[in-house]
Amino acid sequence: MKPHAIAAVLASSLALTLAAQAQQPTSDGPRYQSENLVRPTDYATWTFLGSMIGMTYGAPANPPQFGSVYVNPSSYRSFMQTGKWPNGTILILETRNSGTEGPGRFQDTLAGIEAHVKDLRFPDGWAFFNFGGPPTLKESTARLSANVGGCVECHTKNAAVERTFVQFYPAALEIARQKGTLNAGHK
Ligand code: HEC
Repeated sequence: MKPHAIAAVLASSLALTLAAQAQQPTSDGPRYQSENLVRPTDYATWTFLGSMIGMTYGAPANPPQFGSVYVNPSSYRSFMQTGKWPNGTILILETRNSGTEGPGRFQDTLAGIEAHVKDLRFPDGWAFFNFGGPPTLKESTARLSANVGGCVECHTKNAAVERTFVQFYPAALEIARQKGTLNAGHK
């Protein structure tokens, strides 16, 4: 075979490989055990979206708690291209109690882990999961039904991109602005 013919064969097999990869579900995305979402144990190695202190759905904790939000890296790469979350996105909200040192606060013991997942297997494409916190942190958990905890209502009404609070994730917010994917009422 002439060199350019070999190059053409290599190029077309590479294209086939890439096409096959694009069709496969993301390997770092949500994992299920029957209908339960398995709690990811490696999210500290994922893409960090943002942190917040003292943001709470109900009565404020005293001292305030930290929230940190992570997303699976392949979904973040896709978000950088499109400003939207692809199918197979899993966002983790980790809540930690705060400790104090001098005038400052630092993240201390784990308080809870929640997940927000975009997956076509769910009726409206998204689902919430609550793994709880120590001492009863769950290994896997079923999806919360639509009216539990007001999750769906608050996120749908107030979140900046789809049902996610991108207004509090600075780098992702910049991308959403550039791609024009912010929900109405957000800028
Ligand atoms: C009153 C409004 C409100 C309710 C109710 C609510 N959330 Fe949220 N949620 C937020 C806000 C605000 C954020 C941004 C991060 C933060 O402040 O902790 C957020 C962020 C999240 C995230 C990070 C990913 C994302 O979507 O941005 C998860 C996961 C999450 N919430 C899960 C839940 C679950 C599970 C429930 C129901 C049990 C729930 N939330 C109920 C307001 C709410």
